[in-house]
Amino acid sequence: MTETKKIRLGVLGSGKGSNFVAIADAIQSGQIPAEVGIVLSDVEGAGILDQARMRGIRAEYIAPGKFRTKLEEESERCFVEALSAAEVDWVVLAGFMRVLKGDFLRAFEGRIVNIHPSLLPSFPGLEAWKQALDHGVKFTGCTVHFVDAGVDAGPIIGQQTVPVLDADTPETLHRRIHAAEHLLYPACIGMLARGGVRVAGRRVMGSERVDC
Ligand code: GRF
Repeated sequence: MTETKKIRLGVLGSGKGSNFVAIADAIQSGQIPAEVGIVLSDVEGAGILDQARMRGIRAEYIAPGKFRTKLEEESERCFVEALSAAEVDWVVLAGFMRVLKGDFLRAFEGRIVNIHPSLLPSFPGLEAWKQALDHGVKFTGCTVHFVDAGVDAGPIIGQQTVPVLDADTPETLHRRIHAAEHLLYPACIGMLARGGVRVAGRRVMGSERVDC
């Protein structure tokens, strides 16, 4: 029997890393034919780095430089070098809070994915759950998408809806979206890892359904 070749992931995050944990657990249980080559963070002491080290995965902090929402050129180069040295096939953004620019996007063109806590194209940007609550929508959710030069804008791979309840506060809604993310992200990465994704312009066709 031929085994599916494992793809290598590089994961970038700035926070506690619960999505990374969901992906790592899905790999561990054989749900995703992949391995994590390296985890990188722009935040020293970020939980995601500890989570990686606890699992024996190489994890590094790279100083982001002087900007608040993007990486300084030199820092971006260090991220690209670290990912290339780790021989990653795909870059998975799991709560990485900076916009990636030209050189990074070119180095991994079409091979960067992100998760966003809303049903894009609604509510891109920060605190998407709060935007949804303030707007009064009855459903929101989360989206896994390819990363391009826009903010939360690339072709959509998978989405999961989450109802907005009358009693919701930003915190309760965020928690429910987070729980949905932990199912959606591994499911989408599993599909990518099995080569089951075809991109035609803005449309991403999957060979399997992502139902969470
Ligand atoms: C998630 O809500 C994701 O949608 C957003 O950042 C958050 C990361 O959370 N991009 P965690 O670090 O994975 O817990």
